[in-house]
Amino acid sequence: MIVEPKVKGFICTTAHPTGCEKNVLRQIEYVKRKGKIDGAQKVLVIGASTGYGLASRITAAFGMGAATIGVSFEKEATGKRTATPGYYNTKAFDNMAINEGLYSKSVNGDAFSREIKDEVISLIKKDLGKVDMVIYSLAAPRRTTADGTTYTSVLKTVGEPFTQKNWNLKDNTIGEATIPVANSDEILSTVKVMGGEDWSDWIDALVEADAIKDGAITVAYSYIGPELTYPIYHEGTIGKAKAHVSETAIKISEKYRDRMINAYVSVNKALVTQASAAIPVVPLYLSVLYKIMKNKGIHEGCIEQMDRLYRDKVYGLDGRKIETDGMIHVDDYEMREDVQREVMDVWNTIDSNNLKAYADIDGYWLDFYNMFGFEIDGVDYSLEVEV
Ligand code: NAI
Repeated sequence: MIVEPKVKGFICTTAHPTGCEKNVLRQIEYVKRKGKIDGAQKVLVIGASTGYGLASRITAAFGMGAATIGVSFEKEATGKRTATPGYYNTKAFDNMAINEGLYSKSVNGDAFSREIKDEVISLIKKDLGKVDMVIYSLAAPRRTTADGTTYTSVLKTVGEPFTQKNWNLKDNTIGEATIPVANSDEILSTVKVMGGEDWSDWIDALVEADAIKDGAITVAYSYIGPELTYPIYHEGTIGKAKAHVSETAIKISEKYRDRMINAYVSVNKALVTQASAAIPVVPLYLSVLYKIMKNKGIHEGCIEQMDRLYRDKVYGLDGRKIETDGMIHVDDYEMREDVQREVMDVWNTIDSNNLKAYADIDGYWLDFYNMFGFEIDGVDYSLEVEV
């Protein structure tokens, strides 16, 4: 069929298989151009099909030459419905990796569940023996725990409601969005879903099954961002979950000190992904940030971030780059003093009339459409494709 984008709010309900494939190829080519990374050889990526997880897997495979197993939760095509982008990305990745002689297998299912953990661990034991790196890049709306309780994560503030400028994506106007206050159940639920508990469960399960090497490393991702977004992010429900991820890293490293398994948190840059497009206020911040960072020649996307993370900061020649807060930072360009000062200057003056001049609206939408395989150079969208 001919596949066209169908955008509803912050989500596109269709995805283009050829576009997704090209998107994966573009990221692979980027990493290959940068050359070899002397890193892990057997890598498990949880949340491997889109965004930071996909870019991490590409970096591991095509930079480090690693065998990879990817876990994600994606939908196949049914009838006239296309599959989700992560589904096409994963197929494309598997094909391209295997074509280059790299081991690649992907498991589609709920990473929170015991069944998927068991399935992945059996696969590791059968095919790889043990992994030497585990990347945890899940971004999920809900989690059902072993006792059958379902927790849903919310994007709310903690303490006070927060009102801030907001870009109305439908009509390109600037208005305001008020983010309501979470109650204690909502905070707990968000920590259950986006905190470190499941990450820790994965490492425990891998250790128990003897499917992880001594000296292995595990990395999870976080975001801090500028004070402007603190109430909604860093100090909000999601920030509470991310604080739990940081505490979990310390606990994992302590628990497995004798096996030298080290857990790290990498603080990444704010980028347009399916997860971040859903947060109010953030798209405006992103589009202002993109404009400023592009003008300075320091803008990065997922692949540039993940390549730099593993090449320079995790497996760099002069050792691991852990900052004073105990975390690895690839948000360093975003948080540069000059960048943030300019963001604030723009933020204070931006309105519906000057939006296009101050914010990278086109860049935002290009990234958004690209995520679903649309507006990718070299793809003829008038052709029928097999979905
Ligand atoms: P994303 O939405 O692009 O990717 C999420 C991944 O998780 C996908 O592979 C999806 O299939 C998988 N997934 C979701 N639920 C699952 C489940 N139940 N079982 C198995 N797989 C499941 O998200 P993004 O933005 O790449 O986020 C990844 C991590 O990076 C998150 O921890 C996020 O907080 C963090 N991060 C994101 C930033 C951003 O601006 N997007 C900035 C800094 C950190």
